[in-house]
Amino acid sequence: MGHSKNLFPHNHYVNSTLRKKLIKQQPLLIWLSGLSGSGKSTIANELEKKLYENGCLSYLLDGDNIRVGLNNDLGFTDEGRKENIRRIAEVSRLMIDAGLIVITAFISPFDEERELAKSLVLKNNYFLVHVNCSVAKCEERDVKGLYKKARNGEIKNFTGIDSPYEIPKNPNLIVDTEKESINESVDKIFIAIKNKIKD
Ligand code: ADX
Repeated sequence: MGHSKNLFPHNHYVNSTLRKKLIKQQPLLIWLSGLSGSGKSTIANELEKKLYENGCLSYLLDGDNIRVGLNNDLGFTDEGRKENIRRIAEVSRLMIDAGLIVITAFISPFDEERELAKSLVLKNNYFLVHVNCSVAKCEERDVKGLYKKARNGEIKNFTGIDSPYEIPKNPNLIVDTEKESINESVDKIFIAIKNKIKD
């Protein structure tokens, strides 16, 4: 893949080490994976608020936002999802290099692309959270009315209905939004990551 044959990437003087000193934090990629309606975006938003209140510089990449912009050419076939996550993994890599704490909220249904994201940053800079919630519960919530449409056949390839979700095998953390409140899930993540982002 790619056309990298005649390209010669440079090492820039201002690098991630210098940036870390400037902004006084360790970058971290907090990767949230889970079904549509599992609570990823809500958790991501609250987590980012908490980071901000603690003086951390962050950026939130969210499926519904990115898919109307950068990735508006992509659909929901396996290939579309893989390319979606590949681009987000690359964008995350740049943001990690920039020194930010990056939170991503994408279904990211496949192991392979989650592993790709992991491989693009240092092991210590990657933190995978499985936002666990059953299809039945997500369907009961159906905040966006999409499960109903998927059941009616108005939407094809809907995750959990007629498109697969590979449950993360070795996540750094599992939050269970069927049993925990949003605040509990956010606190669990914050407690787990707070030493990793310290200067
Ligand atoms: S991913 O599978 O490629 O990671 P992503 O997180 O970007 O998905 O987008 C998921 C969001 O797109 C859902 O929250 C939902 O609002 C919307 N959506 C539209 N069509 C589908 C579909 N077929 N499957 C899942 N989500 C869909």
